[in-house]
Amino acid sequence: MPESDKVIELAKRRGIFWPSYEIYGGVAGLYDIGPVGTRIRNKIIQTWRRIFVEENSEFVVEIESPLITPSKVLEASGHVDNFTDPIVECTKCHKIYRADHLIEDTLKINVEGLKPSELTSLISEKGLKCPACGGELGEVRNFNLLFSTNIGPYSGSTGYLRPETAQGMFTAFKRVYETSRQKLPLGIAQIGRVARNEISPRQGLVRMREFAIMEVEFFIDPEDNEVPWLNKYYNEEFRVLFKDAKEKGGDPVLVKVKDMVEEKLVVNPWMAFWMASASRFVQSLGIPSSNFLFEEKLPHERAHYSSQTFDQIVELMGEKVEISGHAYRGNYDLSRHSKFSNEDLTVFKKFDQPRVVKRKTVIINRDKLKVNPDLQREVMTMISGKSPEQINELLERRVQVSGVPLSEFVNVIEREEKEHGTKFYPHVVEPSFGVERCLYLSILSAYREKKDRVVLSLPKEIAPYHIAVFPLLEKEELIKKAKEVHEILRRKYEVLYDDTGSIGKRYARVDEIGVPYAITIDPQTLDDNAVTIRDRDSWEQVRVKIEHLETIMDKLFSGQEFSMIAGEAKK
Ligand code: ATP
Ligand code: GLY
Repeated sequence: MPESDKVIELAKRRGIFWPSYEIYGGVAGLYDIGPVGTRIRNKIIQTWRRIFVEENSEFVVEIESPLITPSKVLEASGHVDNFTDPIVECTKCHKIYRADHLIEDTLKINVEGLKPSELTSLISEKGLKCPACGGELGEVRNFNLLFSTNIGPYSGSTGYLRPETAQGMFTAFKRVYETSRQKLPLGIAQIGRVARNEISPRQGLVRMREFAIMEVEFFIDPEDNEVPWLNKYYNEEFRVLFKDAKEKGGDPVLVKVKDMVEEKLVVNPWMAFWMASASRFVQSLGIPSSNFLFEEKLPHERAHYSSQTFDQIVELMGEKVEISGHAYRGNYDLSRHSKFSNEDLTVFKKFDQPRVVKRKTVIINRDKLKVNPDLQREVMTMISGKSPEQINELLERRVQVSGVPLSEFVNVIEREEKEHGTKFYPHVVEPSFGVERCLYLSILSAYREKKDRVVLSLPKEIAPYHIAVFPLLEKEELIKKAKEVHEILRRKYEVLYDDTGSIGKRYARVDEIGVPYAITIDPQTLDDNAVTIRDRDSWEQVRVKIEHLETIMDKLFSGQEFSMIAGEAKK
């Protein structure tokens, strides 16, 4: 059985995740996250929040905006026109496939970003048929992935479920900017549910129709390349497959953040900052850096809003999954929303010193025009709506009005003016993670088999519980003592208490859900006031006094190795 199937089986057995609406047969792409899964998922979110928001609280804030989005917003963002995937239907059995995936799976080539017509040609050239019935495939066409709805009881008020949280940050940008420190950089983070009507989701948590995204829309002044915050990541390195190498079939290279910035391999230093944050985050999910890389997208592979994109791809057990996307969205979204909403979404940048600029101004000789209303109307019609430069051009061409040179009435002069600042649209860098893909990949990466048993070696930071506490036997005195230990530890730690079934089964359960330590209270405890701590990964055990338990747990949770503790206890 492939590792991914084993994980799915484990997830069902241990309440991590399973298909939603199971009792009705389920719906593809919809999953319940179970009691254990929810605990792990919450920790993953907390870890993301620590790295992306809290560590940058000087310039990143978090908001929440609605899932239901009026159509105007997604028309402005381009999703109504562009958020599509190509589909193809079998002319015989009418089964519908995602065309690019069908071609990629059959021919083992990359066709990301090809147009529907190009995909149709490929299908007919290569003679691809319907995998289900062998029938002819029809024309490839685009299918929009937005889920639509109607907002309120009146028809005509179309809304969509958001496909990304990003638009909530763009539409709230002005309010957040004005109510915060009114300075760039400004990051607006959001963790929230999104919906995409994926065509044929069959890969578990990797391709869902409703999932959660954690993303930051990071607003910057594109002319300000001073990023002192980057220092902490300067020497960090990770693998990147740059687009030039990719085009030539080359390999990824291990590159330092410093070099990415200095060699301008990223369009803005902040791209490297967020990629470095993503690298740390993925490692804290227990996925080693040798198991992921950033792949730069070629222009035709990028989303409509992006001028540079890197996908972070995790490779585990032969599976390749995009865990995050890093896009340079420029001023695309703010300028589009400005246009569609008629709101000024620019920010004002004050210069350190006022700048003297030469500006052309139009002077109209009103006294001369006043005496001839017809001529006045003609002149005004000719110049209205034109810039000083355009009017100057008319003057240079010696344009006439009713036989009189325009220059008799209108003149363009150049004046020096002081400018104190300028208005501009901030540019945006966006790191975007799918929560459930993080959950799935953390579990896949932690999955181990040991003597026919399953152990989930999750990092402590994302384990569903820190500690399990068991009485060895279902005896009243032992249960009482175990509950006392539980009470002591739960003040500081998340503790799972369990007194049912054989001890072997209880150990197996906590190993399978990834609890790092199990503490057992046995009959001897009643005499010597000592308990046994068992390590999930090594199954090594050590006996310690209850009075030392909290200090030992503190040591273990601040990074000390279990073998060290065991060694000390034996002395
Ligand atoms: P893919 O190419 O796999 O469809 P995408 O490029 O459309 O993904 P983005 O639009 O960049 O993905 O979405 C941001 C992140 O959301 C992805 O990196 C991924 O972690 C997650 N994600 C995207 N689509 C899904 C999905 N259908 N189910 C679960 N997570 C998803
Ligand atoms: N906000 C990026 C995406 O979800 O596509």
